Amino acid sequence: MDMQSNSFLVTGGASGLGEAVVRGIVNKGGKVVIADLNEAAGQALVDELGDQVRFARCDVASGAEVQAAVELAEEAFGGIQGSINCAGIAVVQKLLDRENTPADLDDFSRGVNINLVGSFNVARLVAASIAKRVAADNNDANNNDSKNTDNGVIINTASIAAFDGQVGQASYSSSKAGVVGLTLPLARELARHGIRVMTIAPGVFATPMMQSIPDKAREQLESAVPYPKRLGSPDEFAKLVLHIIDNAYLNGEVIRLDGAIRMV
Ligand SMILES: NC(=O)c1ccc[n+]([C@@H]2O[C@H](COP(=O)([O-])OP(=O)(O)OC[C@H]3O[C@@H](n4cnc5c(N)ncnc54)[C@H](O)[C@@H]3O)[C@@H](O)[C@H]2O)c1
Repeated sequence: MDMQSNSFLVTGGASGLGEAVVRGIVNKGGKVVIADLNEAAGQALVDELGDQVRFARCDVASGAEVQAAVELAEEAFGGIQGSINCAGIAVVQKLLDRENTPADLDDFSRGVNINLVGSFNVARLVAASIAKRVAADNNDANNNDSKNTDNGVIINTASIAAFDGQVGQASYSSSKAGVVGLTLPLARELARHGIRVMTIAPGVFATPMMQSIPDKAREQLESAVPYPKRLGSPDEFAKLVLHIIDNAYLNGEVIRLDGAIRMV
């Protein structure tokens, strides 16, 4: 997919992995709408990166807010070619606490709602925008030669916690396992529109989400990575996103990006 004539919705683009993706796309000449709750950080990126970037304050779990972000991309850049969904939260919660009190159901649901329902919400609204554009271009989406036309790509962010969930990660792991589960059915469904669906399952990356952990825990995490013995850099995540956008034969797959770490 040619980056220079394309625009993408990057959710969670105001920080961490999403911010690195925004910078990566802009460096290649592409355009981005950052869809994030953090208005100050998102606006600061727009101010820094200039005309190729817009900001929409948006909760990924809200239909109306994501739709408004998609419409901003349509208006500002004449259409949208895909999304990279990096918005996410890490809910830490045990099923039972020390006194065997059961977990709060709302905390569990919050993680599932933002990480999983949010991913589905973004995928459905971005896919609708791409399908509408393709139909307008071809006058009939069903007769579109989608076999060989890379019309768009939807990239979701899971986590290795989808496979190697630890104690306290029930909400996070199950929400990310749900993101893994979205990948193949959506890729199969959207094939007729020439839209690909991919998921990246990152290991442990050096982002603000990880900054809250104590130094000792960070060192332990680093030494648990077989090679390279360090946290992943957001740039390495962005490089994979750019490759997925470019490589039309990548579809319906989940790629672990983790230095071979397996959580126990
Ligand atoms: N950092 C890691 O080690 C790691 C590992 C595996 C998976 N992930 C996943 O990668 C993604 C990005 O993580 P990160 O480390 O860059 O986190 P981060 O906290 O640095 O950035 C997340 C961004 O998402 C935004 N956000 C949160 N909830 C939102 C919502 N409801 N709507 C819109 N925006 C929202 C935040 O404002 C923030 O800008 C997350 O889905 C996370 O679960 C991260």
